[in-house]
Amino acid sequence: MTKHVVATAYGGAEVLSLVDEQIAEPGVGEVLLDVRAAGVNPADVKRYSGAWGTDKGKLPMRLGFEVAGVVSAVGPEAVSPTGPVLVGDEVIAFRVSGGYAEQLVVAAADLVPRPTEASWEQAAGLMLAGATAMHAVTATAVRTGDTVLVHGAAGGVGLMAVQIAKSRGAHVIGTAGAGRHEFLRDWGVQPVEYGPGLADRVRELAADGVDAAIDTVGTDEAIDVSLELVADRQRIATIAAFARAKQDGFKALGGSGPGADPGTELRNAARLELVSLVEEGQIEVLIDEVFPLAEVAAAHRKILRGHTHGKIVLVP
Ligand SMILES: NC(=O)c1ccc[n+]([C@@H]2O[C@H](COP(=O)([O-])OP(=O)(O)OC[C@H]3O[C@@H](n4cnc5c(N)ncnc54)[C@H](OP(=O)(O)O)[C@@H]3O)[C@@H](O)[C@H]2O)c1
Repeated sequence: MTKHVVATAYGGAEVLSLVDEQIAEPGVGEVLLDVRAAGVNPADVKRYSGAWGTDKGKLPMRLGFEVAGVVSAVGPEAVSPTGPVLVGDEVIAFRVSGGYAEQLVVAAADLVPRPTEASWEQAAGLMLAGATAMHAVTATAVRTGDTVLVHGAAGGVGLMAVQIAKSRGAHVIGTAGAGRHEFLRDWGVQPVEYGPGLADRVRELAADGVDAAIDTVGTDEAIDVSLELVADRQRIATIAAFARAKQDGFKALGGSGPGADPGTELRNAARLELVSLVEEGQIEVLIDEVFPLAEVAAAHRKILRGHTHGKIVLVP
């Protein structure tokens, strides 16, 4: 028997429970993973909170889009993007369904090697935020010499966007609460406090103007300031303010938003690129906190408070 997390109803974190199941043998093109760590994302919470609907047919709902682990059994024709998969391979699986688990059957096509530089927790938190950030930096055409404004720079996606933009030669100004400014400076970001007067504060920091803006927060303030400071709306992207993007004619990114560009191909291709960037030391996954799988409700309550810095991770 193996344990996994399910949401048994729509609601708050109290609907989460850990249940036992008999794990299936991997089928054609599949492998069995012993999960070492599972990344937690705000989307996991939105799925059972009711934010994305309350279809009872989807219950009980398994959670978790990304894991890192060791291959413990291999089905026929199990080939990953980097070649045949073997028992003992240390891998990241993304995008999966039901990653909050001790063991998981996944498609070999969803596996990439675990970067040797990353811990299990870091590997588990790399892909969803990393691929989203890669999409945002690419969609806003960030290049050498640009000044880029990242809203929510210390969050899971924000910190990835910061590092990828810097790896492409950009200067980054990032919004965060005052308590995180020293931390952002350590990551090479010019910090600025969000709240009233944000546009003026950014202007003071960006003598030559702001070339592009990436919003990971979704507030009207983040959007209004981006529209005020960036001349070209094709160089503004949000991953959270989908209605504003439609209304104001800038880019919305991600499959879950109505009218948004899902970026499926780009995000799939980003997986191996992210592994390389970690191995080259150009990006790093910052871990905010690690929770045991059984404490998933506490992990979700923390991410719901909205002030995560880096990634929250579960370990079975
Ligand atoms: N469309 C997509 O494909 C996609 C993919 C991934 C995530 N998302 C969405 O994007 C959002 C961010 O995800 P995440 O994983 O980065 O979340 P996260 O790790 O929880 O980060 C949230 C960050 O937001 C900052 N923040 C909170 N209130 C703020 C405000 N009023 N102004 C500016 N910053 C503020 C916090 O920084 P402080 O502590 O400094 O306040 C925190 O670091 C979520 O809504 C998520 O669902 C969308």
